[in-house]
Amino acid sequence: MPEAAAPAPTVDPAFRADVKRGLAQPEPAVPARWLYDTRGSELFDAITRLDEYYPTRTETAIMRDNAAAIAAAAGKGGALIEFGAGSVTKTPLMLDALEPDHYVPIDISGDYLRASAAELQQDHPDLAIDPIEADFTKPFDLPDEIAGLERIGFFPGSTIGNFVPRSAADLLRTFRDILRDGSKLLIGMDRIKDLDRLRAAYDDRDGVTAAFNKNLLTRMQRELGAELDPDAFVHEARWNEMLGRIEMHLVAVRDTAIALDGERFAFARGDSIHTENSHKYGPRGARCLLLAGGWTPTHEWTDPAGDFAFILAEAQPNRFAP
Ligand code: AVJ
Repeated sequence: MPEAAAPAPTVDPAFRADVKRGLAQPEPAVPARWLYDTRGSELFDAITRLDEYYPTRTETAIMRDNAAAIAAAAGKGGALIEFGAGSVTKTPLMLDALEPDHYVPIDISGDYLRASAAELQQDHPDLAIDPIEADFTKPFDLPDEIAGLERIGFFPGSTIGNFVPRSAADLLRTFRDILRDGSKLLIGMDRIKDLDRLRAAYDDRDGVTAAFNKNLLTRMQRELGAELDPDAFVHEARWNEMLGRIEMHLVAVRDTAIALDGERFAFARGDSIHTENSHKYGPRGARCLLLAGGWTPTHEWTDPAGDFAFILAEAQPNRFAP
C-alpha cells in the first residue's frame, strides 16, 4: 500500500455555503460558529482571561462558592451530561461537587472531545467517561451505560446567549428530549448590566475581541479563497436594546467588496457583517426562556454583584394544568 498523501487542508463545505448565503442577505451575517476555528478558539481562550471579560471568572466563582448548595439541590451521583466538550476549569469543579458516576461530554469536534476526555480521565481515574461525538442541536441517544441513572445536563458559559430566543427555546427542548422527564439542567446565563461594562467586555482595550472577530475574514481568505481586504473592516460591539443583546459586527470603513467563487458582495462605508449575538437576560427573562424551552427553574445562584446567573431547572412531566 502506498503512503497516504498528505491530506488536503480540510475546509468544511458548510462554511462556504453559510458565507455565501449569509453575505447575500440584505443584512449580511455569518453564523457565529465559524469564529471558532483553531485560531478563533485560542483567541476566545485569551478573551476569557481579559480584565474586561467578566463572565468566565464570575461563573467559575459562583460554582466554587456554591458547590455544596448546588450539589444538594441537583443531587449527587448519576450522570452528568455536558453540552460542549467541557471547559478545563468548570467541568472539574462540577465533577468534584456532584461526584457523578458517569460523565458524558458531547461535542461536534471528535478530536477535541477525545483529547479533553483523556485529560480529565487522568485526574479522575474512577470516573466513567462516555464521550459522544454529535451536534447537540440535533436529537441523539444517550449511551446505554447510563440507563437508569439520574441525568443532569450542564450547559455553562452563557453559550445559550449565542442563540436567538426562538432557537434557544428549540435547543432547550432538544436537551429535554435527549435528557427526558425528571432530568435536571445546570445552565449559565449572563445578566443585563451597566452598558459600558457590557460593551467593554466585547471590545477590550487590547483588541483581543477585535482580533477574534476579524479572524473570520482571514479564515474566509485562507479556507475559501475569498478576495477581500481585512483592513477595510473594523470590529464593533453594539448593544441592541430592543433585543437585549450585544452584537458583534465587522463594519466597512470604506466602500469595499468581497469576491467569492465568482460572486461579488459590495459593502458601502458603514455597512456591516453581523458575526455574533450574545443575549443577556434579566432574572425574569432567564426563567421565561427556560420555561418556554420546557424547563422549570428551581434554584438560582449569582455572584454578589448579580452579573451572572447559574440556574438549576427541572424537566417536569407535563401536567394536566389549569
Ligand atoms: C462563548 C458565546 C459565551 O458571548 O460571551 C466572547 C463569545 N464573543 N467575546 C460570549 C464571545 C466575544 C461568548 N460565548
